[in-house]
Amino acid sequence: MSLETKPLSGSLGAEILGVDLARLEGPEFGQIREAFLEHHVLVFRDQKLTPEQQIEFGRLWGELFIHPIVPHLPGYPEIVPIVNSGKRRSLTEIWHSDVSFSAKPPMASGLLAVTLPSYGGDTIFANQHKAYDLLSEGMKTMLDGLRAIHSGTGLASASGKRDAWKEHGQDHPVVRTHPETGRKALYVSPAFTVALEDMTLEESRPLLGYLNEAGHAPDVCYRHRWQTGDLVLWDNRSVQHYAVHDHGKAERTMHRITIMGDTPR
Ligand code: SIN
Repeated sequence: MSLETKPLSGSLGAEILGVDLARLEGPEFGQIREAFLEHHVLVFRDQKLTPEQQIEFGRLWGELFIHPIVPHLPGYPEIVPIVNSGKRRSLTEIWHSDVSFSAKPPMASGLLAVTLPSYGGDTIFANQHKAYDLLSEGMKTMLDGLRAIHSGTGLASASGKRDAWKEHGQDHPVVRTHPETGRKALYVSPAFTVALEDMTLEESRPLLGYLNEAGHAPDVCYRHRWQTGDLVLWDNRSVQHYAVHDHGKAERTMHRITIMGDTPR
C-alpha cells in the first residue's frame, strides 16, 4: 500500500496520511523513511500511542537515546516529558538541534502531543540545508572546515543540575554533511553553540549571530499547530526547532523520544 504524503510548506515538513504507527508494516516503514529524508519533519495525526508503543516506534529507527540531563517519564527512561514549567523556565523556547552538545547527538526526535492548551504552544522547524544553500559561495568557502563548540552547561544549570555535564563541551563542524543524503546543513544554534573553535568569544559572536539569523529566516521555516495525538518526527541532522511559549500557565504535555545518531562530519 502506498502512503499519501502531503507537503506542509515550501521548505520542509510533510503530513503522512492513513497510517497507524502502532501497527506499522515493513513496506510502510520504508516509505516513511524515504519521506523523512526528503521532508525532514513528518506529521502523523491522531496517533493513540501508549508509552510502550511510542518506544517501539522509535526503536524501528535505531537505539534510543537516554537524555543525560533532563528527567524522564517515571518507568520509561527513553521518554522525556516536556511540560509547561512557565515561560521564564522554558528550556525549549530557543532554536536548537536536540542535545547537540553530545559527541553523537540524536539523529531524530519524535514528539507526541498528549495534552494541549486551547491555543498556542506551536513548534517552529527550520530547514538547515536550505539555510546553507541560500548562503553566498564566499560564505560557504569561509565556513568550510570551521568547527564550533557546543555546550550543555546552560541546560544543566537551567534544569537545576548544575553538576551534570558541568564543563561539558563538544566541538562539531559548523556545516555538517547528512550521513544518508550527503546534503550539507548549518549546525550551530543559539541554545548550545557558544563559540567557534580557535577564536575568541568576541570574534565568534558576529559570525554565529549571522548564521543563527540565516538559519531561522521565515522562508526556511514550517510552523506546526499541534492537535492532540500528533506524533511529529524530525531529523536533527537537517532541522532546528523552537517551541513557542505563548500559552501562559495552560497545560501542555508532550512525550519525546530521541534516536541515537552518529558523529557529525
Ligand atoms: C523540544 O525542544 O524537543 C520540544 C519541542 C516542543 O515542546 O514543542
